[in-house]
Amino acid sequence: MELLGATIEDIILEYSKKIGALGSTIFELLSEALGLNETYLKELGCSKGIYIQGHYYPACPEPELTMGTTKHTDTSFVTILLQDQLGGLQVLHDNQWLNVPPIHGALVINVGDFLQLISNDSFISVYHRVLSNHRGPRVSIASFFSNWQEQDQAYGPIKELLSPENPPIYRESTIKDLMAHHFAKGLDGNSTLQPFRL
Ligand code: OGA
Ligand code: NI
Repeated sequence: MELLGATIEDIILEYSKKIGALGSTIFELLSEALGLNETYLKELGCSKGIYIQGHYYPACPEPELTMGTTKHTDTSFVTILLQDQLGGLQVLHDNQWLNVPPIHGALVINVGDFLQLISNDSFISVYHRVLSNHRGPRVSIASFFSNWQEQDQAYGPIKELLSPENPPIYRESTIKDLMAHHFAKGLDGNSTLQPFRL
């Protein structure tokens, strides 16, 4: 497919480069927010891999009977989401579903389960879902940051953050094990991190 002289491959490559650069800055800021050296999370491999998933939600004749995507948290360190002008994304805040209205040119940054685990709950992964809509199709692009290349790598709460007042809440888990649990249980609304709690 050709779009203004660029192929779809060119566009995805260009998008992944830009998203990678933004992710790199976000992981520096998150490291600093945790009181760590700015390269800390990058050196852990949190931003090493990006898994880009394009979603296509067809128009739904009876949106009140179903969901676009049911309630879940992402099993990444961080996810950068681009949603189109139709909206439909909601986040759970204080037990209420809030709309995340689409803003042209804006991206949504989600904390994922692995960032919650390594930050020992300093950052909490956000529950979100997508409503169905009479109008459609809706398209979104989700970019999941994780160490996808080294899925046997184990991650636990960062030692520098732990103290007698802040003991570890989670045991170490490999990316492979957490992902396997996530997919085995499905998007059932329960926390993927539950079995990894100490
Ligand atoms: C996801 C997700 C939201 C959307 O892919 O994990 O939450 O807007 N997508 O498609
Ligand atoms: Ni998600």
